[in-house]
Amino acid sequence: MDKIVVRGGNKLEGEVNISSAKNSVLPIIAASILSGDKCVIDNAPMLEDVNVIGEILKSISAKVDINRDNNKIIIDTSSIANCEPDSELVKKMRASFLLMGPMMSRFGSFKISLPGGCNIGTRPIDLHLKGFTALGAKVTIGHGYVKGVADRLIGNNIYLDFPSVGATENLMMAAVMAEGETTIENAAAEPEIEDLGKFLNEIGANVIGAGTDTVRIIGVKKLKGTTHRPIYDRIEAGTFMASAAITRSKIKINGVIEEHLKPIIAKLTEMGVDIKIEGESAIVDATKELKPIDIKTMPYPGFPTDMQAQIMAILCSVKGTSVITETIFENRFMHVSEMKRLGCNIKIDGRSAVIEGVDNLTGTQVKATDLRAGAALILCGLIAEGCTEVTDIYHVDRGYVKIEDKFKNLGADIKRTN
Ligand code: EPU
Repeated sequence: MDKIVVRGGNKLEGEVNISSAKNSVLPIIAASILSGDKCVIDNAPMLEDVNVIGEILKSISAKVDINRDNNKIIIDTSSIANCEPDSELVKKMRASFLLMGPMMSRFGSFKISLPGGCNIGTRPIDLHLKGFTALGAKVTIGHGYVKGVADRLIGNNIYLDFPSVGATENLMMAAVMAEGETTIENAAAEPEIEDLGKFLNEIGANVIGAGTDTVRIIGVKKLKGTTHRPIYDRIEAGTFMASAAITRSKIKINGVIEEHLKPIIAKLTEMGVDIKIEGESAIVDATKELKPIDIKTMPYPGFPTDMQAQIMAILCSVKGTSVITETIFENRFMHVSEMKRLGCNIKIDGRSAVIEGVDNLTGTQVKATDLRAGAALILCGLIAEGCTEVTDIYHVDRGYVKIEDKFKNLGADIKRTN
């Protein structure tokens, strides 16, 4: 199994290019099912999760061509012959539940293996299923599968108890061809949802307000293919901002949409990092002394849970006491015990982590317990004395394109081994 080995101590310099957002591309690939036509995704991130969702679509007879040479994905969903994606593939990736909405909308049914819990929490899908029911579907759970059937879907008002990203996306996709109008209130407002709304409108849907807390979908009868270029990955950009901060370096990050990064930029600025935006680039200067801060993860536009572990890595190196409160997932502090092995001083108190900055970290073998945890451990490795070996790196490959090459280009002493 691959691992990443980092020898800490190098300052970073130069430029890094950000890839397209994993969390945009996955729902967009699922939404291509709706089109029943050819959809092309330009500048697609060549990630393990993208491969897996591609295989899942192939298991229902879609044609999927992932072209690594020009970062293009061509999906033809005209040939889809069934609505039961391969359960072994589905179990590999939680985001496969995003196929439920499109399959129900286009074919009136789906049967999909229930996504289990994962390292960061139990992650139920009750809000997705309640929403499908509100649109007139009959949803049943049994024998490890969730099944949905609907002779026809009828638009309705849906209020989400929590602004779930996945539920908002699934319900938008389910409602695209429903009769009449659907309103999703208390919807998640993440930039990736706005991107999905754009894609849906490009294939002929009528979605208004995606990326705000109220999304209206007016049902249409027919959809078509399109070519779409997804937004840049704000979490990858945030991770590289964090790498400049933890190494007290100055780097340039290309592929930054300032609006999407506001919560991350605000907290790094409060810490003492100087961030200048020039068009779609950010110059991140962390060469001055940094200060401890307190952070609470929140739905967008609050501070993203997907940056919680990386910001914790920085705070471990900042003199003084910082507090991070995780409000989105109930079990997203798995990285703490691994960070402690590198010498970090962190105490967990319920949903909060109290971090005392230390002068030095010391390299050892640590395990990536999930995608963002793995990225945060690499960040710690950039400053730890000696070598840090991050194992189970497949988690990181799910969501970061060639992370070791990008850090190597910035001057880090980093390599992948097995
Ligand atoms: N929740 C429910 N019921 C539901 C749906 C969600 O209780 O029906 C709860 C979850 O258990 C969780 C919270 O609501 O505690 C937030 O979950 P949400 O549905 O918003 O998250 P998601 O759609 O499962 C997406 C991203 C995650 C990201 C979260 C939050 C994708 C493919 N995944 O997950 O990305 O952390 O939103 O922003 O878009 C990552 O990239 O590392 C990652 C985990």
